[in-house]
Amino acid sequence: MGDFQTVQVETDLLIIGGGMAGCGAAVEAAHWAKKNGLRVTLVDKAAIDRSGAVAMGLSAINQYVGLKDGQNTVKDYVEYVRNDLMGVTREDLVASIARHVDSTVHMFEKWGLPIWKDPKGGYVHEGRWQLMINGESYKVIVAEAAKNALGMDNIYERVFIVAPLMDGGRVAGAVGFSVREEKFYVFKAKAVLVALGGAVHVFKPRSTGEGLGRAWYPPWNAGSSAYYAIQAGAEMTCQEVRFIPVRFKDAYGPVGAWFLLFQARATNAQGEDYMVTNRPELEKWLPYGHVKPVPANLRNWLMMLDVNAGKGPIYMRTEEAIQKIVAAQTDPKEAKKKLRELEIEAWEDFLDMTISQAILWASTNVQPEEKPSEIAPAEPYFIGSHSGASGAWVSGPRDLAPDEYFWGYENMATAEGLFCAGDASGASSHKFSSGSCTEGRIAAKAAIRYIVERMQSAPAIDGAQVEKLRADILRPLALFQENKGKSTDPNINPNFVKPKSFMIRLQKIMDEYAGGVSSQFTTSQKQLERGLELLGFLKEDSAKLAAEDLHELMRCWENVHRMWQAEAHVRTVLFREETRWPGYYFRADKPAMNPDWQCFANCRYDSKSGEWTMSKRPILKLF
Ligand code: FAD
Ligand code: ADX
Repeated sequence: MGDFQTVQVETDLLIIGGGMAGCGAAVEAAHWAKKNGLRVTLVDKAAIDRSGAVAMGLSAINQYVGLKDGQNTVKDYVEYVRNDLMGVTREDLVASIARHVDSTVHMFEKWGLPIWKDPKGGYVHEGRWQLMINGESYKVIVAEAAKNALGMDNIYERVFIVAPLMDGGRVAGAVGFSVREEKFYVFKAKAVLVALGGAVHVFKPRSTGEGLGRAWYPPWNAGSSAYYAIQAGAEMTCQEVRFIPVRFKDAYGPVGAWFLLFQARATNAQGEDYMVTNRPELEKWLPYGHVKPVPANLRNWLMMLDVNAGKGPIYMRTEEAIQKIVAAQTDPKEAKKKLRELEIEAWEDFLDMTISQAILWASTNVQPEEKPSEIAPAEPYFIGSHSGASGAWVSGPRDLAPDEYFWGYENMATAEGLFCAGDASGASSHKFSSGSCTEGRIAAKAAIRYIVERMQSAPAIDGAQVEKLRADILRPLALFQENKGKSTDPNINPNFVKPKSFMIRLQKIMDEYAGGVSSQFTTSQKQLERGLELLGFLKEDSAKLAAEDLHELMRCWENVHRMWQAEAHVRTVLFREETRWPGYYFRADKPAMNPDWQCFANCRYDSKSGEWTMSKRPILKLF
């Protein structure tokens, strides 16, 4: 790989990932950096106009507190999140985002995002915390603001970040490669803000064959945030808290608008509403079984009980919901107009964010006003910004965080100079798109303050470290070239493993031993221990990953990132000796909640010793 050029970029704040958190960070950092004469650089593996979870657009802003209207308070939002996560949440972090999120939403509107308005000019709410938007171009609008703030000279697109660059225990930048040109990138920085999203395809997806890439979570986020933070030595939290969204089956269309805006019911094949018939089950999960709304994992659980009892398929009763709204109109002309409006809204909900669901409806002759549609729980994902919670353990803000949660700078991880936001920061769920952008802003402001107060000097980078990283990162290309002649099929060769085969092996381990779809989301100590053993063999074989071209080189490293996310998950599910989130996973050997585990389960990897340390951290109630 002698042809690969090494490109060095020196900056003050390096933002890795240009999704919702990364773009928010860029806008905020640019402001504070200008005041202090600092440079800010942003890197993304894709083109930020259409990158990350919001690439296709969204149909709602899921976090808007509405503080100005006076109906909701920050405390209300904290309570909502705490309940939804079965009591496991960092209230300081959730409050920190909640008190600022409305201003971010107002910025979106100023930048040109169309938010639905009622006849009086107020926002149209989907539910208590959610606003309806015409969001097909949501990401383009937010990316434009980031580009205007930083300038394209400071944005590197189509550069895949592989690993941290370290100066002893301090984070000093990142290394990666261009996915289009033979260039190895070395970014040196005084602080790094990680916003590389969550992870999909760690577990076997329901989709197979041609449809493999069709999952709920976007296939291009592959656990890079977790990998970066773990390798930098940061303490991680909530690695066991995966998210399993219930979605329209096979194309993963969102359900929020149906449940909240249209007030639809979901029923089993016999027409029974599992939220009613299985309600007694909620008594086993108190106090959270009795809160409103019922936590997302418990809603899943009540559905899964019916599926496991053979009462599926489960249907979203779109036809019933539409007919009910239309029937409420007394004037027949108004009723006809309402029906037309609802049809448009139903289709737009998918066209704004999950186009494939609209295509599936069209190709299977579904008219939602006439016929219900199947819904099903998807495979597990890692998305700390939605209804999961996995991410780095970060400092809270000075005015809200108790000593246990505070070490100087908002959103700084336990590794010096490392800041995390969006899916990259843990224990603060339900930030969604707006909250992730807000958290990016909070973290970026703190990172600039950290540089000004603590980091006058550039980091010292050992040249040998860079050379080793370059050799390791590019090795899959060399391995392929050296061995490709030893078999007639480029994908099958005893001397190497291609990334797709590697991924399938990872997914099989996770699916069967860590409670994926085929195991009905159920696992146990023995299953997890066997899974860890198999993950150990997989890790050995990762040294044999081979890449035919730059695209496959990216695929190799995506799968290494996934493998580390998988290991952190399995270790933490094993560590937490209880079932706390039935509907996300069930520990068959510990089938109930245990008060001893009313705490965070954290982990940390020491790259020198190769050892993981597991620890409990207290949950402190602040509101
Ligand atoms: P992302 O926005 O996903 O950004 C991650 C970025 O990192 C991407 O730009 C990606 O290209 C980049 N990246 C990843 N790996 C690398 C690497 N190795 N090197 C370089 N760059 C890399 N929220 C709402 O408010 N309303 C909704 O209706 C809604 N619907 C959703 C529907 C779906 C299907 C999903 C998945 C999420 C939805 N959300 C919604 C949540 C919202 O999209 C996320 O909370 C938010 O995007 C998280 O922001 P983030 O910056 O952490 O990650
Ligand atoms: S999205 O990420 O694809 O937009 P979805 O459409 O399911 O998610 O949900 C949007 C919002 O509605 C989320 O905040 C989710 O928690 C909430 N939500 C969805 N279904 C329900 C429900 N049955 N009860 C209460 N809240 C719900």
